[in-house]
Amino acid sequence: MSLDLMAGYEEPPDLADEGVWLECIETGEQYAPFEEVRYRSDAGALLEVRYADLPTFEEFEGEGVWRYRESLPVEQEVTIDEGATPLYELPRLEDEIGVQSLRIKHEGMNPTGSFKDRGMTVGVGVAGELGVERLACASTGNTSAALAAYGGRAGMETLVLLPAGKVAAGKIAQASLHGARILEVEGNFDTCLDIVQDLAEQGEAYLLNSLNPFRLEGQKTIGFEILERHRNEYDTFPDRIVLPVGNAGNTAALYKAFRELVASGALSESEVPKLTGVQAAGAAPMVEAVEKGKDEVERWEEVETRATAIRIGNPVNAPKALPGIRATGGTAVAVSDEQITDAQRTLAGEGVGVEPASAASVAGLRKLREDGTVGSDERVVCLTTGHLLKDPDAAAAAGVEPESVPGETEGVLEHLGE
Ligand code: F0G
Repeated sequence: MSLDLMAGYEEPPDLADEGVWLECIETGEQYAPFEEVRYRSDAGALLEVRYADLPTFEEFEGEGVWRYRESLPVEQEVTIDEGATPLYELPRLEDEIGVQSLRIKHEGMNPTGSFKDRGMTVGVGVAGELGVERLACASTGNTSAALAAYGGRAGMETLVLLPAGKVAAGKIAQASLHGARILEVEGNFDTCLDIVQDLAEQGEAYLLNSLNPFRLEGQKTIGFEILERHRNEYDTFPDRIVLPVGNAGNTAALYKAFRELVASGALSESEVPKLTGVQAAGAAPMVEAVEKGKDEVERWEEVETRATAIRIGNPVNAPKALPGIRATGGTAVAVSDEQITDAQRTLAGEGVGVEPASAASVAGLRKLREDGTVGSDERVVCLTTGHLLKDPDAAAAAGVEPESVPGETEGVLEHLGE
């Protein structure tokens, strides 16, 4: 395993007075976290939140995202009880795929039905600290739902930019009722993100996409939860975590959780799970970069998939996520929409309702187990990122047709007997 795992964590910080600072992932330049609004370093690279004190499992206390408050940049201010999501056993699927153990970490069980809540409880808290007025994001849907809910809870104005005609019904309904102003943009998600970045640079709004390093701090708690719970139940950490990839925010966030634990000595390098990303074949620039061994991702201008949540051609967190996949010995794989729907059906058949993008993780695991990349001796956790009801149309299309019957028992019995 590469020593990337420890990169940047050995050096004494210049700005550690408050114990928290921002650091450029390329130059190591440091910035005070709450004095100005800043999304990138002077070099134009991504920023990462750093802490003087690194986490150990012993100090975690409480439930949910804020159990990890010692590893988060702000105090708990805006919360709807996010995190503490289930780690389900699925014995039939485990059997079918043929691994030593399989768990599903179902992030669809968060308050607005996706993992985005973990990022927003922190990100909207930071927005309060910075004293900004209007919050904004580009979104394939889930981010907009979470931003609207957490912004509403904080009493802040929210603006969301969505790709017209490409966002699942449940997500628009949430953003709308939680009170966001919704702009439907002619273009895909990447166009929306270009525009909202311009708006943020011009001071029109505070950007809460995963480009914002504070949001990823909240999402990092997915990693802490998986490791803690897995060890409690199996006495060991998982060998591999498989997750859907869009902007690669979660991939970056999980890698950060691992690095912090390694740096504190709570996790040994050999215990770090292999980060394994899955994309839809019609939107797979990360897979392309991993397969070609590239350090950078080439933007795909044309993207298409039924898994609209990950219909993304320009994964902004690739510079953080690619080193994570590489350093942990993981990989990335593309799956077809049919494989995604099959996995969605299988999960639902065992009681776990997820949206299409979420099912990509299981579809990817199936594929990697079949081609031998994943061994039968592995303990695997698949992340499912959003709830089935987020995309009712996709669920109905993947499910069975209702049957019409007359309004009396005889007729029903006759129909059943057919
Ligand atoms: N799964 C779901 C259900 C998502 O909504 C997203 C991203 C991802 C996976 C990908 O996660 O970006 O961390 O790699 N949705 C964003 C949104 C883009 O706007 O809701 P990632």
